[in-house]
Amino acid sequence: MNRIDRLRQLYGWVDERLDLESGKSFLGKAFPAEDSFLLGEVALFCFLLLVLSGVFLGFFFEPSTSEVEYDGSVAEYQGEELPESFVSVLNITYDVPFGMLIRRMHHWAAHLMVASMALHMLRVFFTGAYRNPREPNWLVGTGLAGVTMFAAYTGYALPFDEFASTAVGIGYNVTLSVPLVGETIAHLAFGGSFPSSATIPRFYFLHVLVLPAIIAGLIGVHMLILVRQKHTEAQRDADVPAPDLHRRDEREDGAAADGGAVARDDDSVVVGLPAFPNQVAVSAVVFFLTLATLSLLAGFLPVHNIAEYGPNDPASTPSLIMPDWFLMWGYGFLKLTPSWLSFDVLGIHISAEFIGGLALPGVVFGLVALWPFIDYEDSAVHFTADPLERPFQTGVGVAGVVFIMLASIAGMDVIVADIVGMTTAQLKPYLTAALLVGPLIAGLVVYAGLGGFDDDEPPDDEPTARTEGDG
Ligand code: HEM
Repeated sequence: MNRIDRLRQLYGWVDERLDLESGKSFLGKAFPAEDSFLLGEVALFCFLLLVLSGVFLGFFFEPSTSEVEYDGSVAEYQGEELPESFVSVLNITYDVPFGMLIRRMHHWAAHLMVASMALHMLRVFFTGAYRNPREPNWLVGTGLAGVTMFAAYTGYALPFDEFASTAVGIGYNVTLSVPLVGETIAHLAFGGSFPSSATIPRFYFLHVLVLPAIIAGLIGVHMLILVRQKHTEAQRDADVPAPDLHRRDEREDGAAADGGAVARDDDSVVVGLPAFPNQVAVSAVVFFLTLATLSLLAGFLPVHNIAEYGPNDPASTPSLIMPDWFLMWGYGFLKLTPSWLSFDVLGIHISAEFIGGLALPGVVFGLVALWPFIDYEDSAVHFTADPLERPFQTGVGVAGVVFIMLASIAGMDVIVADIVGMTTAQLKPYLTAALLVGPLIAGLVVYAGLGGFDDDEPPDDEPTARTEGDG
């Protein structure tokens, strides 16, 4: 028996058990050949690399704040009694072979995951890919965005250095400010008043098990919905001739399958690259490019230098406290919410801290989640929209981006005040005004620029209804 026969025999054996033949239709699933559709994949690969690099770090990290004597290679801490988690991260960074590289890769993968996720979300928003029937996947995506940021927050705390602990402490105070249940939630999540000896073990548990499991589960649901509903597709310039070597539909019956052309507006057929081998090859390239980018970043750009910050010291406060960039907008709300904005309703105290730190970010997340129901479409839409032809939606999107950017700048008020030569108190009214007016102006300019105020209806030649026979 030659090698080919042996492989056939092996395939037959597996096929008998797993019915591979019936899975072949999945291999023909069409992926629209659009580069911006790869942003979701970058986020996915970052998650995989986070898990892999996290497993490595898990072998060396100690989730404990007990004091131990340091005897690693950072001279200034030699012989000092330091919290064990801080010591273990110093060891990973300076003494474990490849430790610094993997720690940096883990760090950059987290940042790249959030960045690619945000860009992916903007792609979906501006092309209208959230519309009927994809509202459920938009909701799952919004959940993913929230949980991913929370996972990053819990990781930030783990080295138990002075800078990160102080920033994490802001989250503790905000949690405490939740009316009625704040104290219970804070005690549950932070293991008592922050920082207590139980905080790091509890955050470790959330960071390495609970939150990654939720993210993995949500990504699974996200992908299942995607496979079931199939991608949106860019509008076709003309009818697609078939057979076309680079484009293929997945419908087993019908015009394209028997060699006829796919009509320009026939949205019952997805035209794109088959999952195997074409899309798998493209995805492999995306994976290795993501890995290469992270390796390059990890090789050249240092991360959070805990040796410089020193271990957590409850007696001191660093002069500059800042969360990671992707949480900066929430920090901005916290800074701009005036302290007089606190009141009692039915004997329940609503503090300014709660309004700025949780209620306002909650409203932002809520509006994002509800957007497909605000811009509601009655019938199914399977072609992407051109943002230039949707003045209202694009205007709202640009206003939203400007709003988040201005709120983030407010979060960095100490740096801005330093640059413009003011105190943060003097700067605050300007930042508040900018946050209230800036997005409105940006949105109106975009709306007007795209012809939103013109009397004529904006051109809209999208086909909307999906015909029978969709999968
Ligand atoms: C961990 C985070 C995420 C991962 C790994 C992820 C992954 C993906 C992938 C691989 C795709 C298919 C390729 C593409 O269209 O880019 C996709 C599609 C989609 N995602 Fe995500 N995503 C994430 C977060 C989000 C967020 C935050 C949203 C929006 C709030 C979202 C909404 C959608 C929608 C509506 C689709 C279907 C798009 C279409 O058919 O054109 N996703 N996602």
